[in-house]
Amino acid sequence: MRIAMIGTGYVGLVSGACFADFGHQVTCVDKDGDKIAALRRGEIPIFEPGLDALVNSNVKAGRLDFTTDLAAPVADADAVFIAVGTPSRRGDGHADLSYVHAAAREIAAVLSGFTVVVTKSTVPVGTGDEVERLIRETNPSADVVIASNPEFLREGAAIRDFKFPDRIVIGTSDERARKVLGDVYRPLSLNKAPLMFTARRTAELIKYAANAFLATKITFINEIADLAEKVGADVQEVARGIGLDNRIGSKFLHAGPGFGGSCFPKDTRALVKIALDHDVQLRIVEAVLAVNDNRKRAMARKVSSAAGGSLRGKTVAVLGLTFKPDTDDMREAPSIPLVTGLLDLGAKVRAHDPVGMEQARRELPDIEYCDDPYACVRGADAMVVVTEWVQYRTLDLDRLKRELAHPLVVDLRNIYRPEDMAALGFIYESVGRGLEPRK
Ligand code: UDX
Repeated sequence: MRIAMIGTGYVGLVSGACFADFGHQVTCVDKDGDKIAALRRGEIPIFEPGLDALVNSNVKAGRLDFTTDLAAPVADADAVFIAVGTPSRRGDGHADLSYVHAAAREIAAVLSGFTVVVTKSTVPVGTGDEVERLIRETNPSADVVIASNPEFLREGAAIRDFKFPDRIVIGTSDERARKVLGDVYRPLSLNKAPLMFTARRTAELIKYAANAFLATKITFINEIADLAEKVGADVQEVARGIGLDNRIGSKFLHAGPGFGGSCFPKDTRALVKIALDHDVQLRIVEAVLAVNDNRKRAMARKVSSAAGGSLRGKTVAVLGLTFKPDTDDMREAPSIPLVTGLLDLGAKVRAHDPVGMEQARRELPDIEYCDDPYACVRGADAMVVVTEWVQYRTLDLDRLKRELAHPLVVDLRNIYRPEDMAALGFIYESVGRGLEPRK
């Protein structure tokens, strides 16, 4: 199969490299000349475990290349994937589709032979119809089908998620397009990933509903965590106790500082807007957004009350800045409102992150950055764990205690055990783990 991938952002680059690794011939296209030049030199613009090796081995094998000009790769392609960005539109929370629409027009102008044009970007229900209209308007004689194939990969685990998905959703009612996309994904049938064929609008809605449901699960357990703290229960055991019920499932029940990232906040906001446009009010999703925003802001107050009610003049060491581990992505990271809140409350903030500090500097210019976690906590009045990087789990706790001026640890990801921390003499606060006397 010959594939053109339009957009070399997160989804485009990972999908392009994985398709090439399946044995397809893939050309990734991006308007950003610097990015394409860097990719041609073998430099990967994002941090994603395994991506560097995957891209470079497929380039070497002659299955993957990069260009700024979509004409030739689109003309040659059996399938053209649109994987350009759909950021939140400033002001109203709707998804900004200008990049998708521009890509559709440019693709239309150079189509040749039967081609399936597939939206992979997360797009509002009905976008496939609009892409189809734009393509047919630009090139009325094109032999083309427009399909939807939403992507469910998680940052930090993107390659594994792409190669071992729970399902692949293909939205098109056209038999020829189903055959082409079935062939594109055939290598995955070896992994027993179910291919779900459905109609285009349904596929578009599946993506939003999946993200909104997962965001709801996280927000639900976060509220239960607040209650657990008050009643003296352990939210981790509550999560395990409910998660063992197959109807609920154990994943995405980890309480923390609230969800962030490039998808959940943006997509839940967009879903609420899509629904309102159709006179439907998604009250649960609206509540999830409001609760999550409040929660992120409340985390600085949590640190302050753990520190005795005031942070004025105190130094707080923040460990972890990215919205989750194994990424350098700072988009909507809980660390941003947290650190801003700490500064507003009069604290001095020092921070460490294994890979995200360069990105973080842009969002949080007014704090001190430290190259290692021990230097970060040295002389600090409190340490706050915001992102659960694996290296923070294995820190030398004795040493941490010696480095801190005051042995207060606020662990917003529950990476340490309360009994260990108590035994070491820390004052330890975590999320949703109320003190219950062990009987
Ligand atoms: C998400 C979806 O998982 C993925 O299917 C979709 O394609 C894109 O959005 P991603 O944003 O990369 O992926 O990260 P994810 O691992 O889902 O985490 C999102 C946020 O939720 C993070 O801030 C994370 O810390 C938080 N989270 C996740 C929790 O607080 N608790 C959990 O149990 C799980």
